Amino acid sequence: METSHILNFIRRTFNDAEGFIPLHAPYFGGKEKEYVTDTIDSTFVSSVGAYVTRFEEMMAEITGARYAIATVNGTTALHLALVLAGVKYGEEVITQSLTFVATANAISHAGAIPVFADVDKDTMGLSPVALQAFLEEHATVNAKGECINKTTGRRIAACVPMHTFGFPARITEIAAVCVKYNIPLVEDAAESLGSYVGDKHTGTFGKIGVFSFNGNKTVTCGGGGAIVTDDEAIAKKAKHLSTTAKIPHAYEFVHDDIAYNYRMPNLNAALACAQLEQLDAMLKNKRELAGMYSNFFEGSSVSFVKEKEGTKANYWLNTLIFQDHLQQQAFLKESNDSKVMTRPIWRLMNRLPMYAHCQHGDLSNAEWLEERVVNIPSSVRK
Ligand SMILES: Cc1ncc(COP(=O)(O)O)c(C=O)c1O
Repeated sequence: METSHILNFIRRTFNDAEGFIPLHAPYFGGKEKEYVTDTIDSTFVSSVGAYVTRFEEMMAEITGARYAIATVNGTTALHLALVLAGVKYGEEVITQSLTFVATANAISHAGAIPVFADVDKDTMGLSPVALQAFLEEHATVNAKGECINKTTGRRIAACVPMHTFGFPARITEIAAVCVKYNIPLVEDAAESLGSYVGDKHTGTFGKIGVFSFNGNKTVTCGGGGAIVTDDEAIAKKAKHLSTTAKIPHAYEFVHDDIAYNYRMPNLNAALACAQLEQLDAMLKNKRELAGMYSNFFEGSSVSFVKEKEGTKANYWLNTLIFQDHLQQQAFLKESNDSKVMTRPIWRLMNRLPMYAHCQHGDLSNAEWLEERVVNIPSSVRK
């Protein structure tokens, strides 16, 4: 299919004949200004305030998790989640090589070493088959019930699948492999607010799930994150560790752990609450856009990625798969030259200098996708 034909369609769809079309712009159509002004008027702009609590209640309700804990961003949410899952310095965490760098960075922040497995071609998320194959070849469960990497001698302390662009990974199967090898499951659901497997929200299949509310996400609060869990002890500890492990006291400063300043400020939470109130409408709008793209690309040489049966994707970033690397590159150049913002999928983590030494399994699917995938404009249309 001719690139100009695709670009014309995108311009028509976004009702913009010549301006810059972003990949994903925030949409502020509700009570954002009212709530943010409220925090300023009340002076409660920082980490104590009613909007933080309201945001946590809304996130618990939306995801169906018993508890939600607000953090400053998704990276810190993931770091904290790994610490809470029991990941210690010098241990390993298995994740997919095809992910945003924050997944691997959070593993490093926890003092652990990432190990990379392949993704499925259709979901672009961690492949349960690749995970199982890697563990069969390299892992053993010792008498203490710990999963040990036989090659490195280190404990595999967690598994972090990621729901790429809001398309749910095969999370039920991944969870089953994790149970078999006694590996805690922490879901990087940063991109998948509003995505489900059956009627269960992504991020709720393992011990802990994390979300991001960065400026490029469907729901944004400038910067923000959330941890969700059904485990009361983990939820309590998450709140404690994200607020410098301060023991409540009328005026004394007593802290009982080496902790973090990861709590989401009320100012951001106000924006998040206003945005979450519009989540259903935004998801509907994005689903309509995905339907238009899907019809447009039907039967063409470029394939448009659709949600898999039994799952509901949030269509955060609409995704094309080109036939080969040359076509991907040509489209990226022509679209960006024409002020229609498009982006390739990420470089594989094991190609980045800081993760090049990390152990990995066969990555054929990730490599195949890396050469072909492009995201196209996906903002909520006004
Ligand atoms: C897969 C994934 N993990 C983690 C993050 C980190 O979130 P944040 O940017 O809020 O730190 C992001 C997004 O930015 C992401 O896409």
